[in-house]
Amino acid sequence: MRVLLFGGAGYIGTHVSLAFLDRGDTVGIYDNLSTGREENIQQGVKFYFGDIMDRKRVSEVLSEGWDCAVHLAALKAAGESMKEPEKYSTYNITGSLILITECLRAGCNNFILSSSAATYGEPEYLPIDEKHPTNPTNYYGYTKLAIEENLKWFSRLKGLKFASLRYFNAAGYDEKGRVMGLEINPLNLIPIVMEVAIGKREKMVIYGDDYDTIDGTCIRDYVHVTDLARAHVAAASYLEKEKENLIVNLGSGKGISVNEIVGAARRLTGKEIKSEYGQRRAGDPAKLVASSALAEEKLGWKAEKSDVENIIKSTWNVYKRQK
Ligand code: UFG
Repeated sequence: MRVLLFGGAGYIGTHVSLAFLDRGDTVGIYDNLSTGREENIQQGVKFYFGDIMDRKRVSEVLSEGWDCAVHLAALKAAGESMKEPEKYSTYNITGSLILITECLRAGCNNFILSSSAATYGEPEYLPIDEKHPTNPTNYYGYTKLAIEENLKWFSRLKGLKFASLRYFNAAGYDEKGRVMGLEINPLNLIPIVMEVAIGKREKMVIYGDDYDTIDGTCIRDYVHVTDLARAHVAAASYLEKEKENLIVNLGSGKGISVNEIVGAARRLTGKEIKSEYGQRRAGDPAKLVASSALAEEKLGWKAEKSDVENIIKSTWNVYKRQK
């Protein structure tokens, strides 16, 4: 299969490219390197420098002939999206429409979207399945929902086939050490914990200790990026064989608290990792846990590498070399 990854030089995209390469597919990466890294682009991948807002360049690269497009090129900081929605509407929504319409024009009718648990908003019940109402609490989550709605329309009107993969908390690094370039300016919990462990930050702040959870800190569903990557390969095969659209959650189904993550990181890195409790972060739900039963049913997918040990160890392997 010939697969083109938009945003394939980013943290998740690099792992997705490895999963396709491991299966023997032909992989192309289209990226503007704003947060991705050229050093993470694997040997054998054809790299196209470009921005998704550049319709001419997108069209030129798509004209080379691809069986499936994977769209991982987006802005993803939920907090920032509330302050600068204009940026998110342009890049995430308009940018996605450029990709969708150009894919159709080029005859690349299979489309995989990196979507997010942020499409659900505050959970009404747990674990969250795909029937859960979608009421995003931040503009970022809304942009993902808007793209999904457009995918449905372009499927109905123009025959596009799509799979939207709603990631929960992506974490971890390739266990074989094939990805060594760190994400640029990460704002997520585990990278911040790691930056304290290597001395790049003096301490970290745990946002809130008064949630209604086992230890008062927020619960999240951390899913190993290699597990996520495998789901893209399964989704590409699904689209090719079943010719049916798909919207699925991808999570481990296990809820882990912030304190448990910090504790595991201390144990596995042997570092002190100074932390203090701070204010709650606006927009943070207390608990987010996925049901991935549909992904299992449709794709035969289950998280396999997503236990905390694996996630922390594989991340530490990359961070400890940064000193
Ligand atoms: N946290 C801290 N201190 C920090 C950073 C994070 O206590 O310095 C806490 C957060 O408050 C939250 C948990 O750690 O309770 C996880 O936070 P992240 O920022 O790592 O992840 P989020 O759950 O906020 O969001 C992530 C992605 C979103 C995606 C969501 C799906 O960034 O894009 O997971 O669950 F939508």
